[in-house]
Amino acid sequence: MNLDRDHAITLDAADPLRHWRDRFVLPQDEQGRELVYLCGHSLGAQPMLAAEFVEEVMRDWRRMAVEGHFAAIHPWLTYHARLAPALAGLVGAEPGEVVAMNTLTANLHLMLVSFYRPAGGRTALMIERHAFPSDRYAAESQVRFHGLDPARDLIELAPREGEDFLRTDDVIEAIGRDGPRLATVLLPGVQYLTGQALDVAAITAAARRAGCTVGWDLAHAIGNVPLALHDAGADFAVWCHYKYLNGGPGAVAGAFVHARHARDRALPRFAGWWGNDRATRFRMAPEFEPAPGAEGWQLGNPPILALAPVAASLAHFDAVGLAALRAKSVALTGYLEALIDARLAGRVTIMTPRDPQARGAQLSLRLECDRDRARAAFDGLRARGIVPDWREPGVIRAAPVPFYNGYQDAWRFVDALAAELQVT
Ligand SMILES: Cc1ncc(COP(=O)(O)O)c(C=O)c1O
Repeated sequence: MNLDRDHAITLDAADPLRHWRDRFVLPQDEQGRELVYLCGHSLGAQPMLAAEFVEEVMRDWRRMAVEGHFAAIHPWLTYHARLAPALAGLVGAEPGEVVAMNTLTANLHLMLVSFYRPAGGRTALMIERHAFPSDRYAAESQVRFHGLDPARDLIELAPREGEDFLRTDDVIEAIGRDGPRLATVLLPGVQYLTGQALDVAAITAAARRAGCTVGWDLAHAIGNVPLALHDAGADFAVWCHYKYLNGGPGAVAGAFVHARHARDRALPRFAGWWGNDRATRFRMAPEFEPAPGAEGWQLGNPPILALAPVAASLAHFDAVGLAALRAKSVALTGYLEALIDARLAGRVTIMTPRDPQARGAQLSLRLECDRDRARAAFDGLRARGIVPDWREPGVIRAAPVPFYNGYQDAWRFVDALAAELQVT
């Protein structure tokens, strides 16, 4: 492994996607110097096209006000549907199985209302112990909503003692063991803290064998790793668009409902008028007639201004294709890993799985020193213009995003961390 900066420069020059960086606005320091932005797992950088798409909506709104619902360049009445084909491609779904709406947590509640239906001996909801807090709060509150006790009916999966991430076999075994009492399994496609990509196909198959429903939180997975929700047979999934999807802070989120539920009117759901079938929505009738597919879970009319940056970002994903992004991502994250191994061994532990198939872009690093020293090293990185993020009690997460990061970014990050940790 060539550790020189010159080698990183050579790798960047040979990167077929290198020009995509120019289509993003990367953050700068106060002197106007570009930062090394490695936080796309938290908030993706801004695609330049986003401003254009937002301005198009602003212009249509100025020019035609209410008529924009029908006469805008992209009519607002169906603006959300414009996103569906690209989203479907990213999660491996049919366009009718996906919808952009609400926030991730709101969508999670809507999905759990429909698909977590404790009955008879099947009352438990399985999540992971280190689930993102919002997922835990949603899951726990849903258990309580059904009059059940989370101490009994919220089952938590944890990595083995001394290990950082879940083993697929352990997850499958747990699902088999608890199968008869499971109503639903809810897991992340990519775990937010460790960056582990779970085996969606194998775990979904195990849950379905066990006779329960299964849903996925894809916040850190969409646009990061390839997904095949339809073929896997998942019942539902939810995600946000502000991480690898570069849709902007608080961007409208997304949801997937498998086609086998598309016309199931027996499913309980919390309804709103925008979920009504488009053909009858404006009859304003008292009866709710759900639109077939994921659109039937919509509540209110979507925030068009917030959908516009997501549409812009999806246009980029369409142009490049996830396969090319993923190929670069595997190479770039592998390069980052090799640099860390070579220069920071003993000082830093990579918590993320070593198998490229079991991770996305992100590597999570545990600094092998006390918390204050680790925090000082992180603050030092920021002072050097490097932007990863920090999770207590001493984890640095860094994601080289294939759209706008390069090999020199990875090199500068590791070089700066070595300097902060005084590794010679
Ligand atoms: C894994 C995961 N789940 C849920 C959420 C919450 O999403 P939201 O605030 O958009 O509802 C996040 C936010 O970062 C997340 O990373």
